[in-house]
Amino acid sequence: MLNAGIEALGVAVPDTYLDMTELARARDVDPAKFSDGLGVQQMAVAAPHEDTVTLAASAARMALDGVDANEIGLCIVGTETAVDHSKPVASFLQGLLGLPSHCRVFETKHACYGGTAGLMIALDWLRSGSSRGRKALVVCSDIARYGVRTAGEPTQGAGAVALLVSDDPKLVALSPNVGTCSRDVMDFWRPLYRKDAIVDGQYSLTCYLEAVQQAYLAWQVQGGGVKPYASDRFSAICYHVPFPKMAFKAHGALRTFDGDATPSKSFEWQVKSGLELPRRVGNVYTGSLYLSLASVLACDARDLSGSELALFSYGSGSCAEFFTGRVTSGAQARVRALALPKLLDARRRISVAEYERTLAVAVDERPVAQEPSRAFGFLGVEQDRRVYARS
Ligand code: CAA
Repeated sequence: MLNAGIEALGVAVPDTYLDMTELARARDVDPAKFSDGLGVQQMAVAAPHEDTVTLAASAARMALDGVDANEIGLCIVGTETAVDHSKPVASFLQGLLGLPSHCRVFETKHACYGGTAGLMIALDWLRSGSSRGRKALVVCSDIARYGVRTAGEPTQGAGAVALLVSDDPKLVALSPNVGTCSRDVMDFWRPLYRKDAIVDGQYSLTCYLEAVQQAYLAWQVQGGGVKPYASDRFSAICYHVPFPKMAFKAHGALRTFDGDATPSKSFEWQVKSGLELPRRVGNVYTGSLYLSLASVLACDARDLSGSELALFSYGSGSCAEFFTGRVTSGAQARVRALALPKLLDARRRISVAEYERTLAVAVDERPVAQEPSRAFGFLGVEQDRRVYARS
């Protein structure tokens, strides 16, 4: 079986963020509800010149550092906040990155699972031999919006994670053994006429937790039978992180299913390092799981070389997958060299008033006066065409 997996990754976050203590005070909420109850510390806020395309392009550029664009034979963008009903974000990306015309480009959607759908397609493409030596670029990019003064407000966020997927997995080699659980449920959705998501909050938590156990069960059955404490073998477990406390709940559900009466003990060594970056960014929808993976590789103090880790992807609606991989020797050094915590440190903190003004600007009709400071910028819509700048 071909050794397929993640060769490199890239992360992009908006230029600005909101401190959650400040948001709590502005909403007359005890700050401990956000910091302890939800586990969020900072929330990324996309400025008018940043959108799903520019975030995707910035993350992809980091993942492709030192890679010849002509080696990319497949480019998939997983997103639930696309910029067009027809033209995929992947096509804009192709233009901005100069991907070759022989590359297959498209977009995948299934709420927060869309990026994982792209990753699974890319892995199958490699394993089938269709790739013919080429690599795949899978980008998860989203701007999570529920709106000002909604229950979902403290669980917003934005960003992108790009994965270079190949038969030379310098970061994580992924196993073809995947446990899937999908159901037709209305826990979270966004009708075509809306820019903000609608969510049945507590029900979405229930659906997520049921999916953890069912996908994990499916993975175990695939592997030849259900074994108690089977998850002990993982040095780290990365979950989809709509907010960090959800990963804590998810881990509790998984470990309880495993027969563990005190799941919080293993949370410390299996999950915590994967929440370092997510707690400073918020929900990145499709990218959240992979931001958690980046967080483990960037922030975990242990040497994880050769160890096995697990990933749980959840997309409302719903589709969930539990899958595993093995950390390649040198992977942590590669990801640490990206200086991801510094990328977050470099952002500008904004006030609640500036955040509210930013959200009030109509999405898709955001004219910006000046050229963006970043490498890729959204300049606005001209004659129904989105215009981007590349510096
Ligand atoms: N100090 C400390 N903790 C406090 C507190 C205080 N003063 N006040 C409340 N809390 C705790 C609560 O006890 C609760 O913790 P537990 O769940 O562990 O009991 C936590 O803070 C949140 O409190 P509430 O449940 O009362 O919060 P809420 O009703 O205002 O909303 C929410 C929480 C449902 C997550 C809401 O923010 C929301 O709808 N978010 C969007 C939906 C979402 O993220 N769903 C996740 C699963 S679906 C998914 O994963 C896909 C996706 O990306 C959307």
